[in-house]
Amino acid sequence: SDFIVGYFVGSLSSTSINRKLAQALVRLAPEGLHMREIAIRDLPLYSQDYDADYPPPARALKQAIAEVDAVLFVTPEYNRSIPGGLKNAIDWASRPWGQNSLARKPSAVIGASIGAIGTAVAQQSLRSVLSFCNSPQMNAPEAYIHFTPDLVDEEGRVSKPDTEEFLRDYMSAFQQFIARVYTAIPREVR
Ligand code: FNR
Repeated sequence: SDFIVGYFVGSLSSTSINRKLAQALVRLAPEGLHMREIAIRDLPLYSQDYDADYPPPARALKQAIAEVDAVLFVTPEYNRSIPGGLKNAIDWASRPWGQNSLARKPSAVIGASIGAIGTAVAQQSLRSVLSFCNSPQMNAPEAYIHFTPDLVDEEGRVSKPDTEEFLRDYMSAFQQFIARVYTAIPREVR
């Protein structure tokens, strides 16, 4: 089945390993899963003062989420939690009150770290936020990617065959998860 997935990269770093991971995921996505990035870089810091009149980057964010069938979060862990830039984007998406863009939008979470327990704590924290935002989440498989310098090249190719296979399986599990969500809840009433 065909779905559009909007992916968020939780890092703004020009050398982000999570951006590399996202490029690998785009490459390894199964046929029918159409990947597009939803950028968070230009968002100002959220304030409720904006609720009456969202600025253009925040409108663009909400429009971008509305146009996709599901969202994928590819994020580092910052100080055992969600990077501030990503949390800010989710806060924008969740408002104004009653217009939460993430409600009933299927999601999945993945992340890469140079440390051995790579992003597990950040992912738990992100999952709590997504639960509150009423996004149906893929619970399994989980994916904590321990990033080594040559794991993914500039074109998004994965050097370790077992990691490549794991990531391919992860993406196809996400496609199946999205399909199950939309079987239970027809798109017209989501
Ligand atoms: C980190 N890093 C990190 N790693 C980790 O596994 N757990 C953590 O809590 C943190 N905390 C943390 C805070 C801040 C402010 C920075 C800049 C970094 C290290 C992090 O995994 C590493 O820098 C990755 O390269 C970040 O991902 P991107 O930005 O390369 O995608």
